[in-house]
Amino acid sequence: MPATAPRKILIVSSHALFSEGLRQLLKRHDRHPVQVIGIVENFDQAAPVIARHAPDLIVVDYDDAQVNQQEFIRQFIESNQQHRLVLLSLQEGGDLGMVYERRQIHPSQVDSWLESWFEPQTSHAPESPFHPAEEHRSNDMKHWIGVILLIVVLTALGIVGLQNQWLLTTPASAQAAAVDTLFRYEWVLISFLFALVVGFMLYSMIFFRRQKGDESDAEYIEGNDALEITWTILPLITVLAFAAIGARTLKDITRVQPGEMEIKVTGQQWSWRFEYPDGTVSDQLVLPVDQPVLLTLESVDVLHSFWVPEFRVKQDVVPGFKQELRITPTRMGDYKVRCAEICGQRHAYMLADVHVISQAAYEAWLQAQAGGAGGEDPAARGQQLAQQYGCLGCHSVDGNPGVGPTWKGLFGEDVKLADGSDVDADEAYLHESIVDPGAKIVEGFTNVMPPTFGDQLSEDQISDIIAFIQSLK
Ligand code: CUA
Repeated sequence: MPATAPRKILIVSSHALFSEGLRQLLKRHDRHPVQVIGIVENFDQAAPVIARHAPDLIVVDYDDAQVNQQEFIRQFIESNQQHRLVLLSLQEGGDLGMVYERRQIHPSQVDSWLESWFEPQTSHAPESPFHPAEEHRSNDMKHWIGVILLIVVLTALGIVGLQNQWLLTTPASAQAAAVDTLFRYEWVLISFLFALVVGFMLYSMIFFRRQKGDESDAEYIEGNDALEITWTILPLITVLAFAAIGARTLKDITRVQPGEMEIKVTGQQWSWRFEYPDGTVSDQLVLPVDQPVLLTLESVDVLHSFWVPEFRVKQDVVPGFKQELRITPTRMGDYKVRCAEICGQRHAYMLADVHVISQAAYEAWLQAQAGGAGGEDPAARGQQLAQQYGCLGCHSVDGNPGVGPTWKGLFGEDVKLADGSDVDADEAYLHESIVDPGAKIVEGFTNVMPPTFGDQLSEDQISDIIAFIQSLK
């Protein structure tokens, strides 16, 4: 019987006291037969003994300066040997100190470790009379069925928990369908992968947890080629499949639509501006339902990202480049453009209204814009410009300070500047502040205004905006 065969021990030490002391200790644990198959002084002597006798345990004298302990550790870390390597320290008074067992071990654990080492090793041996191989296999089968059921249940719960209608806004564009299909595939896969990891983990925590008093090591597993090939090939196929689905989706949502209407979109800190085919400029995106739209997007300052969640598609807006985004709105309603790229202090407020309306309502809206855009009153024109160019995103007209100073009561005021001087808020000062915002900074504010308005606005338009400010008493 394997349980009664003597354990073969090789001692590595140049001190006779060490090997003698160890022999005495081993005698104390005489419940199991032990055979010291050799006492050697270095690795060169040890190697042939190990090769010939395959000792169960190799004990290296930790305190022996003649022995190169590191060499033993390296050899055993790198080799696939099944026997154990122990660095042992016999301290004063004959106490036993375990130093290395391919891990650190506390001196107080030595006795129980030594006990466990001399216990008959039966638990994992299939030929053991206590656990016949037959019983092993049926137990294995039970565990497999259990864990597979758990994974199926967790996957189903994951899919139900990640349903479209709970996580996504109502789709409102033709492009949304393709994106949502991709989402659905991903949620199924995510649920399964989550269940696979958590299922095995939960099952093991419940059914394979350590029994009370069990101090034994886990079974040493060298590797499993079939398993490793499987978990390499299957994810590879999955990733490639998703790449193909993703590419097809991208093709779907960027395809040129017949009869597209082009709208120019300009993003800037922190507003959106939309220019329609007839020249109308607005801070609102108004779209006729079912009309394919080509948005050409530009930024005058930093990175922004155009995103209407209900349309699903999203496009970064990059300064110096013209980007394109295609949307066919399919559902009438009110939505919001949300800047989806962090772009400074008021990024979170960089919103614009989106209205999807009927073709007739759209025509009427354009008419109204054309009627109101001109007008004889410079202040009214200025108010519209201030809206269109996003001035009101930072400057309030009700006296509350925003990112910039309020416009209410500003004209003619004595303004205190950051450098301690004063300035009269006259036409010249306001003009300078619009085209060169950094020239005079108001006390209590940091200048973050884009210096681009001098290029975007004509002199007449600047005069109109100043007239609007003047009207805000
Ligand atoms: Cu623009 Cu964030």
